[in-house]
Amino acid sequence: MTLRPIRLRDARALERELMENRSWLRTWEATSPYAPMSFDTRASIRSLLAHSRTGGGLPFLVEYNGELAGQLNVSSITWGSLSSASIGYWVGEKFAGRSITPIAVALATDYCFAQLGLHRMEICIRPENAPSLRVVEKLGFRYEGLRRRFIHINGAWRDHFAFGLVAEEVRGGLLRRWQDGRVPIGLAAVNEYDRAAAAQPLQVADK
Ligand SMILES: CC(C)(COP(=O)(O)OP(=O)(O)OC[C@H]1O[C@@H](n2cnc3c(N)ncnc32)[C@H](O)[C@@H]1OP(=O)(O)O)[C@@H](O)C(=O)NCCC(=O)NCCS
Repeated sequence: MTLRPIRLRDARALERELMENRSWLRTWEATSPYAPMSFDTRASIRSLLAHSRTGGGLPFLVEYNGELAGQLNVSSITWGSLSSASIGYWVGEKFAGRSITPIAVALATDYCFAQLGLHRMEICIRPENAPSLRVVEKLGFRYEGLRRRFIHINGAWRDHFAFGLVAEEVRGGLLRRWQDGRVPIGLAAVNEYDRAAAAQPLQVADK
């Protein structure tokens, strides 16, 4: 598989893949609390590239045997005392189950730590998303906590489990640690208290 920067000329192939995978992706897709979902793929690539030029993100495309398989976005890059970033990802349904995503996450993380000098990577996942929880478990991201109504996904504010990793935990590289079978067991385990809390909707005040 290949992880490479996205380009404007990927728009047509990306749009096809997104359309073919509508029902596969919808439940997990970030949405805007202000406007309906936009399907303008060129506009969304332009926005990712503009964000990347200002140093706020790294938008990657994931390829498998030369075919567009999905996307991985490094976003919310902050420098200075925080030196942190978040990772989001998806692959098309026909590419699922081949460890494409954990490899892509490991490559992006190693690049951010070794080349950019970032210190911490974060991945936030809905409690219901078992395949994605498996990705952080495979790589040994550490469970850090429950974030209530944290990201607007599929039309509503959704709870997320947050997972983190700092550069000192993977000095020889995240991909290398995984390939060598040195991932510590149990780091991504969610505690009982947070699991139970996430099963109950947050009490919100009436207007
Ligand atoms: C979550 C996701 C990115 C995982 O990507 P991936 O490249 O398939 O990752 P993996 O190959 O490591 O598979 C992870 C787990 O998914 C599950 N899985 C495998 N094939 C699957 C399939 N066809 N359908 C559903 N789940 C599957 C397995 O439990 C697997 O764990 P295992 O390898 O121990 O069996 C992918 O399922 C996806 O794009 N889902 C829709 C979008 C999404 O959820 N994005 C993430 C938001 S946080």
